[in-house]
Amino acid sequence: MPVQTCFQLKTSDIPKKWYNIVADMPNPPQPPLNPGTGEPIGPEALAPLFPMALIEQEVSAEQWIDIPEEVLDIYATWRPTPLYRARRLEKELGTPAKIFYKYEGVSPAGSHKPNTAVPQAYYNKQAGIKRISTETGAGQWGSAISHACRMFGLETLVYMVKVSYQQKPYRRSMIKCWGGEVIASPSTTTKAGSTILEKDPDSTGSLGIAISEAVEVAATSDDTNYSLGSVLNHVLLHQTVIGQEAEKQMEMAGEYPDVVIGCCGGGSNLAGISNSFIRNKINGKDTRIVAVEPASCPSLTKGIYSYDFGDTVQMTPLLPSFTLGHDFVPPGIHAGGLRYHSVAPLTSQLLLDNLIEAKAYRQLECFEAAVTFCRTEGIIPAPESSHAIRQAIVEAQNAKEEGKEKTILFNLSGHGHFDMSAYDSYFAGDLIDDSMDEQGVQSALKAIAELPKPAGYTGKSYAGV
Ligand SMILES: Cc1ncc(COP(=O)(O)O)c(C=O)c1O
Repeated sequence: MPVQTCFQLKTSDIPKKWYNIVADMPNPPQPPLNPGTGEPIGPEALAPLFPMALIEQEVSAEQWIDIPEEVLDIYATWRPTPLYRARRLEKELGTPAKIFYKYEGVSPAGSHKPNTAVPQAYYNKQAGIKRISTETGAGQWGSAISHACRMFGLETLVYMVKVSYQQKPYRRSMIKCWGGEVIASPSTTTKAGSTILEKDPDSTGSLGIAISEAVEVAATSDDTNYSLGSVLNHVLLHQTVIGQEAEKQMEMAGEYPDVVIGCCGGGSNLAGISNSFIRNKINGKDTRIVAVEPASCPSLTKGIYSYDFGDTVQMTPLLPSFTLGHDFVPPGIHAGGLRYHSVAPLTSQLLLDNLIEAKAYRQLECFEAAVTFCRTEGIIPAPESSHAIRQAIVEAQNAKEEGKEKTILFNLSGHGHFDMSAYDSYFAGDLIDDSMDEQGVQSALKAIAELPKPAGYTGKSYAGV
């Protein structure tokens, strides 16, 4: 008999409720502010963009929120996702650590993103909306929302960050396969995009710019709502199916993680894998949670905790978050989904309260980890997920040096089948190894100098404390 490496649950094990960590946090996140008045915004301020069911989830402090049957039916086409023990990677590293990973790449779009795309499309359909506008970085979110909208008969309009639009043509094709329309951002189809292009005709775009374009379309059309693939409370909430399943699967394996790892762009797959374990941590379990970001877009490790806009053109409410400033345009690294200037308010508060830690790695060391992983475990990871793999390998190497047993769990948030040009560049030695120096941080942070500061503001970065 082969040793067990795959821990599978049944359809009946798909979680029936999402877990809302706000109910258990020692300090829930501070409210979003109206940029004009500096006062907290009410649910009505979000109504032009989102259906009321999602707004209710956004502000909810209920611990558990029911998942609608229609959403469960679609989840069941790929969930529960498998949990693997990375025995071959352990052997390659010669580590006493046990490494487990939850694999979200089995969804139709190839990442964790459909976990929230499906409920978002469902609630919009219920509210009588005809079209969703959104942004996408690497194209993972754009393809996920295009798939989800197709499942419920909605149209999709995706603003795709220009550098990814050029680097990842097949993600564009995927969006089109499910019937979505995709436009390279910045574009001349919106005022926001045109303003950026006037200033910088060669702009490679950023998530912040693409969000401005998608929000503008939703705010100015009655039949169109906006949808965000990360950052907001309701998005992180929907991802908690990952961690609830992983908890059961770790139990099947007879293990409990000493450390839980997720890559971090806006914070949603990290929240997905870790929130259940953070809940146990708040209740006394001893587990470290590590968020991993690119050294070239280090919002958690080098950003400042402040109120800031979620987009570049300053159309969104102000969110309390670790940020590099809303007009920061990260270099064109291949982990497009991690190129966001700030991070979720929930993730930010958890970092402030020392319930999670943050680490940053450069592009090359992450690709190196990804290649080690695919040559042992077989799965080709998304460049975003390679950041979590890097940290898992570092943890396993530390365990080896210290001669300690350790159980490591990380989220493999997606596969890299549409990122092969990035792997080609890595093999050809063409990948740039950017990181952010102190001067870059200081100039990016000028954008938030005049904005309100939340409780907990120190003016220093997490890495600088
Ligand atoms: C595969 C993958 N992992 C991670 C991320 C980062 O997003 P988040 O931090 O919200 O999980 C993305 C975003 O596009 C992604 O596509």
